[in-house]
Order: sequence, then structure tokens, then C-alpha cells
Amino acid sequence: MRVITTATDLSRELDEARRAGHSVGLVPTMGALHAGHRSLVERAAQECDVAVVSVFVNPTQFNDRSDLERYPRDLDGDVALAEEAGASLVFAPQVEEMYPGFPDTSGTTVHVAGVTEAMEGASRPGHFDGVATVVTKLLAITGRCRAYFGEKDYQQLAVVRRLVADLRLPVDVVACATVRDPDGVALSSRNARLSSAERVSARVLHQALLAGVAAIEDGERDPERVADVMEVVLAGEPGVVVDYATVVDAATLQAPQVVAGEVRLLLAGWLGSVRLIDNLGATAPPIGPYEAEERSIRLCAGV
Ligand code: PAJ
Repeated sequence: MRVITTATDLSRELDEARRAGHSVGLVPTMGALHAGHRSLVERAAQECDVAVVSVFVNPTQFNDRSDLERYPRDLDGDVALAEEAGASLVFAPQVEEMYPGFPDTSGTTVHVAGVTEAMEGASRPGHFDGVATVVTKLLAITGRCRAYFGEKDYQQLAVVRRLVADLRLPVDVVACATVRDPDGVALSSRNARLSSAERVSARVLHQALLAGVAAIEDGERDPERVADVMEVVLAGEPGVVVDYATVVDAATLQAPQVVAGEVRLLLAGWLGSVRLIDNLGATAPPIGPYEAEERSIRLCAGV
């Protein structure tokens, strides 16, 4: 396993690999790798000749300074896990390599409008500019590749898809399912900061999402009522302070008038000083013309 620290070396190495006819897979991470990351690396290693894991705690996407300072770092452990999962290279640049002159942030920032506005974008100002900027840099350094992202960060996945499409980057974005602990809690580097009581309370996030999905499967078509179902479950756990619980269209991330087709249920909550996010997908049959008319009459009448 080789660890590369400069952009020039990584680009040169991957250009050579592609010239030799090898395909390249990139798994961008901020390190502190766990089984969620591992599933992305394994998939990249299966599908590509050269799988690269980038490990970079990106300072520009932290809107909270103490969150950045407390972010876990363990490059040796990350290199070992990446190797075990089948990666061929780790790219671990210093901040100066990715942002020359940092903390002077004059220069280019990538801003994706629209999909960044609600949810995480509303709660964490500047976060997605930091994500979009660093992902664009990583993709530019890597060149033509498949890039693997987790559905765990569903809005981030939408942001990456959008920037790749808009900037016409030669990248296939691959979405990977969320890996969970047996009790349903989505794996996250931040889980390590939960007390044992908070770790128990954290289960309610997945339970609320399951209740929301069940409501849709039972025929609930009103997004507000689906959100209410999730909020009632969350309210049953006093250890969680809810930031948002919402239903959006799975592709556009816009709030729908009616739950129809592919939707995504997303939520965020605080457990003490740790903020966790999670999401699940659901499919509702498309709404028929009579039902649509009946609903619009009910909406106008306010019932
Ligand atoms: P990080 O939080 O380290 O996550 C790296 C990748 O692993 C992301 O695509 C994330 O969605 C995925 N991931 C995290 N937990 C997962 C889980 N439980 N199951 C499946 N996938 C999971 O996301 C970032 O880093 C950064 O924002 C980054 C994209 C690297 C830009 O700095």
C-alpha cells in the first residue's frame, strides 16, 4: 500500500494507470474509517483496477470550529483498513496541498445552488460549498474515474451528482447503501463521541425513519403527516433534540405537495453535543388524476 501526499504525484500515477488500460475508482473520505467506508472501498476495489482512498479532513466544510478540532484522526488505522478492503493507494494530502495559503480562502469556491438550500444546507451555512469545492478538487486531481459516495449523506450525494453533471466532469458517481449497526444506527465517525446513554437514544433516528416509511406504505400521501409520524417517534426519546425531519422528492430534493413516486425521508438531531443525520428511501405509487383532484379540493378548503 502506498500513501501519496501530493496532487502532482497522484495525477501522474493515475494517468499512467489509465494509459496502461486500467480503470480508476476514487473513494473520498475524511478518515477515521469504519465499516461504512469499508463497504465503499470494497466496491471500488471490485469494480475498478486501481482503487484510491482519499483521506483529508476538509477544514472548509466545518461550520463549527470545535467539530473540526474534535474530528477523529488515525492515518495508520485508515491505511490498514483501506489495504484490507482492497485499495491500492491512499491519497493523504496536508491542508496546504489542497488549499495553498490556507486559512486565506481567496480563490475558487464551488457553489451548487438549489439542492444545497434546505436541510443540511440550512442548518450548516457554508458546509456544502466546502464539500463541493474539495470534491471538485479531488475529482480534478484524480481524472476520469468512478467515484463512490454513501447514501448515508444523501444530500451530499445529490450535490456531487449535480456538480459532476454541471461541470461535465468525466466521472461516474456510484451511490452505496448505508451500513448500519445491528440496532439500526447508521455508522458514523461521530458515533464514537456518544456516551453510552446517547448511543442508546440514537436508535430512535432509524426507528423514526422506519415509522415514516411504514406510514407511506400504509397509504399516507401527505408529506406533513409523514413528518409528524417521524416527529412523534423522535419526541418519545427525550435524549434527542430534533433539527429537522422531512420528506423530499428523491431526485430533486424538493418538498413535494403529495408523497408520490420515489421519495426520501431525512432527519437530523442532536444527542448532547453530537449532531447525527440519517435517511431512508420509500416508493409510493404515482398519484392518479381523481386522487390529485380530490386532494387539491381538500387543500383549497383547508381540510
Ligand atoms: P466522510 O464522512 O468520511 O464519508 C466518506 C464517505 O463515506 C461518504 O460518501 C459517506 O456518505 C460515506 N459513508 C459514511 N458513513 C457511511 C455509512 N454508514 N454507510 C455507507 N457510507 C457511509 O462525506 C465525507 O467524508 C466528506 O464530506 C467528503 C465527501 C470526503 C468531502 O470532504
